[in-house]
Amino acid sequence: AGEYFVKIVEVGPRDGLQNEKEMVPTEVKIQLIDMLSQTGLSVIEATSFVSSKWVAQMADHTEVLRGINKLPHVRYPVLTPNLQGFQAAVEAGASEVAVFGSASETFSKRNINCSIEESMRRFEQVITAAKQAGIPVRGYVSCTLGCPYEGDIQPAQVKKVVKRLLELGCYEVSLGDTTGAGTAGSMAAMLRAVTTEVPVHALAVHCHDTYGQALANILTALQMGVSVVDSSVAGLGGCPYAKGAGGNVSTEDVVYMLHGLGIETGVDLSKVIEAGEFICQALNRPTSSKVAQATNKS
Ligand code: HMG
Ligand code: MG
Repeated sequence: AGEYFVKIVEVGPRDGLQNEKEMVPTEVKIQLIDMLSQTGLSVIEATSFVSSKWVAQMADHTEVLRGINKLPHVRYPVLTPNLQGFQAAVEAGASEVAVFGSASETFSKRNINCSIEESMRRFEQVITAAKQAGIPVRGYVSCTLGCPYEGDIQPAQVKKVVKRLLELGCYEVSLGDTTGAGTAGSMAAMLRAVTTEVPVHALAVHCHDTYGQALANILTALQMGVSVVDSSVAGLGGCPYAKGAGGNVSTEDVVYMLHGLGIETGVDLSKVIEAGEFICQALNRPTSSKVAQATNKS
């Protein structure tokens, strides 16, 4: 990854679909991932090994992970909140996983049913087991620009949790704007704080577009040296434990912006648009991507 390359982490099959009320057929999830695999994306988050009592939509995680056509140059991380999820993921053939913590105590409790401190103990178990298995672990921090329950979150608190995850052994930490309430101003302030003690190359941004600020926030992060961006095809998404949170920024719009900046992504925009059309048709809903809307005038 050189100076002019940005890595996109496609989270549509996981973050994009986890909040869908109606069960999306496993076949549809598999076809979506297989289409995304053909776009040049290098990382596609495939599913979550979480409790089906908590997130029923991800209950077919094993079938999805086993059913997709894994290409050698694409990585397919899955979410694993604890050792039980990690073991199930490995059993299903996962070769990369992600743990997900929060900068907000209340959100941690609502999302993964434990305190931040307890979550770190669980993540340590996952990371220890992953190291032994040679499996890389990504980290997430939710609520980095605000919490649906607590409101403002201090940048110093975000920094603390990010540092913990990196010290535990995550190779990269994705900073989630879970509510999408962040602005270019709050993004800059948060990143300024975090990067006083954390190398910027270890950071990714994960912006939900609830308030329409995601692209501006991502551009701000890019200008501050971040070179990994999470996004979701067609702008699908939301978190079941962040009521009212909108979808992720769309992959189509991020790719369009990056290519407009002369930044390489390795991604074929027209193929992402096709994958977006497929999933929107399957879900019977219009795309949230402005770029997809603009290029499909039929
Ligand atoms: P818990 O109820 O506290 O777990 O849930 P427990 O350890 O007390 O066990 C209770 C039951 O759950 C047991 O089953 C366990 O076997 C089972 P029972 O004996 O009652 O039949 N269990 C599991 N089952 C499947 N997979 C597992 C697992 N662990 C325990 N891994 C737990 C704790 C973490 C499991 C639960 O709270 C959970 O699944 N939470 C997931 C919530 C979630 O997926 N949220 C969305 C993803 S995060 C997100 O979207 C934000 C992000 O995009 C970034 C951003 O935007 O900010 C990443
Ligand atoms: Mg998210």
